[in-house]
Amino acid sequence: MSKLFTPFRIGNLLIKNRFVRSATTSYWSDDQGILSDPIIELYKELAEGDLGLIIKGHSYINEKGKAHSKQSGLNSKKHLPRMKELTDLVHSYGSKIITQINHGGYTARADRATASSYSRDNLEARELSLDEISSIVEDFAKAAEYAIEAGFDGIQIHAAHGYLVSHNFSLI
Ligand SMILES: Cc1cc2nc3c(=O)[nH]c(=O)nc-3n(C[C@H](O)[C@H](O)[C@H](O)COP(=O)(O)O)c2cc1C
Repeated sequence: MSKLFTPFRIGNLLIKNRFVRSATTSYWSDDQGILSDPIIELYKELAEGDLGLIIKGHSYINEKGKAHSKQSGLNSKKHLPRMKELTDLVHSYGSKIITQINHGGYTARADRATASSYSRDNLEARELSLDEISSIVEDFAKAAEYAIEAGFDGIQIHAAHGYLVSHNFSLI
């Protein structure tokens, strides 16, 4: 049997095979960041396909950090019922699911803000204050707690694609 079909472990997490779906946002949540039926259906199909591990597309950790319209949120109790529905569904196929949490940083639509003021190609972002950064760190922690409450097997912090935790401004 190919090694691809053998289990592996990430820390305490035992994954049934080596097939991983990388985080892919769908733009299908509603305006409050709540998952819609097509999203649940998409992940159902992925789990039915016997993926060992699914990494859900990024969810915002606070409203200001929302990166794009129809992004899912993980900063309020209102997001939990459908997130729990999603994790229960994926688990019913024996697959694991990790969620990805994010702050849009200089791409955030409501408030373009990042580690230091930034200006390029008609795109400007302001510098965050130290207090704001502390508050964002708290919001990441709260989102992680919501993720655990919703039944996710782990949390991935989005640190790429020019978002806040990334230092790569080249892609967006
Ligand atoms: C529609 C779309 C949505 C994506 N959403 C996310 C995301 O939410 N988080 C993330 O880390 N990467 C996201 N990505 C990046 C993918 O996970 C992946 O890293 C990228 O497509 C490159 O993979 P490849 O080198 O196998 O083509 C997205 C990509 C696409 C095409």
